[in-house]
Amino acid sequence: MTSAPPVLPATRSQPLRGGPVLRWGVVAPGGIAADFVHALHTHTDQRVVSVASRSADRAAQFAQQHGIPRSHGGYAELYDDPDVQIVYVASPHSEHLRLATDAIAAGKHVLIEKPIGLSAAEARAVRDAAADAGVFAMEAMWTRFVPQTDVMMQLRDAGDLGELRLVTADLGFAAQPGGRLFDPQLGGGALLDLGVYPVWLSHLLLGMPESVRATGALTGTGVDEQSALVLDYASGAQALLSTSIRVTSPGRAAASGTLGRVEIDPFFVFPSGFSVSRGDETARFDDRSGLTYRQGMAWQAAAVARHVDDGLLESPLHPLQTTVEVMTIIDDARRQLAASGA
Ligand SMILES: NC(=O)c1ccc[n+]([C@@H]2O[C@H](COP(=O)([O-])OP(=O)(O)OC[C@H]3O[C@@H](n4cnc5c(N)ncnc54)[C@H](OP(=O)(O)O)[C@@H]3O)[C@@H](O)[C@H]2O)c1
Repeated sequence: MTSAPPVLPATRSQPLRGGPVLRWGVVAPGGIAADFVHALHTHTDQRVVSVASRSADRAAQFAQQHGIPRSHGGYAELYDDPDVQIVYVASPHSEHLRLATDAIAAGKHVLIEKPIGLSAAEARAVRDAAADAGVFAMEAMWTRFVPQTDVMMQLRDAGDLGELRLVTADLGFAAQPGGRLFDPQLGGGALLDLGVYPVWLSHLLLGMPESVRATGALTGTGVDEQSALVLDYASGAQALLSTSIRVTSPGRAAASGTLGRVEIDPFFVFPSGFSVSRGDETARFDDRSGLTYRQGMAWQAAAVARHVDDGLLESPLHPLQTTVEVMTIIDDARRQLAASGA
């Protein structure tokens, strides 16, 4: 069977430089916060002007390492900083709701690390607090903003893939036992930390499923260690997803439609590329930005600055309703795993 090779559209990702600039404040300066600030300061015009830790010494050290002018030994001090326009919440998930709503109450826009909280109820609480305060709020689902996602979505929206019937995605990283990923008090478990990406991708491509089936295993500490999810849609489409903190998985994702399919290069969450095939014709999209791994957070920051400058309270690319629905799927899966006592 022959068909015309798919024509790849140009990316519409927000340019990293030359757009609006925000003055950012970072609360909870751990591992991801360091990568976030590095990405912003290296690849965008965005500026982190303030950082707060529970420890004044840690805040000062982080500020010194990253060229941040002000540091605070307490998160509330940063919320009171009139120079900060937007707060990036980078704590473990268990603290996201509290820190985000405190920042919102102080009148700040917020970008909250993924997952936005521990449950759909927490996602709704952030959404409602931000709406009441009239500030911008978004979960930091940064993969939505990398060029390969934008180009893939243009293909899907143009009908080039036909009707999507199957999405497959996996994300697993072998984690050292003992850290926050194994601690139920800190929102541990694979689904919240890593599974949120495959679930988000399936939601992006297929929307909200009719049913969720989850099977898997728990750790000795009682959090989900590894799981496989089958999502069934009213149309008959399906998503097959897996996640693990026990092993590192290929990190692949694919979407198959009645006219064509997209296969995203591993790890699909990072800046990468994809093949799109129709019949026996294949075309490639390759991210030639030179940004790798978590440097890809730069696109998210540039997009958020554009959204805020445009006066938006949510991102049209990753609205809070999407976050609520993704968390609803994860709630369902986590309930099933806990009930099975796997
Ligand atoms: N986008 C991504 O690719 C990506 C990658 C990794 C993680 N994340 C997300 O980012 C968040 C943080 O992950 P991380 O790996 O950066 O965590 P981490 O290194 O453990 O750092 C989190 C920081 O939060 C602060 N904190 C506040 N309350 C805490 C508590 N009760 N227990 C421990 N620390 C607390 C601590 O800083 P102070 O005490 O100094 O304030 C700590 O350094 C998670 O929600 C995770 O899902 C995203």
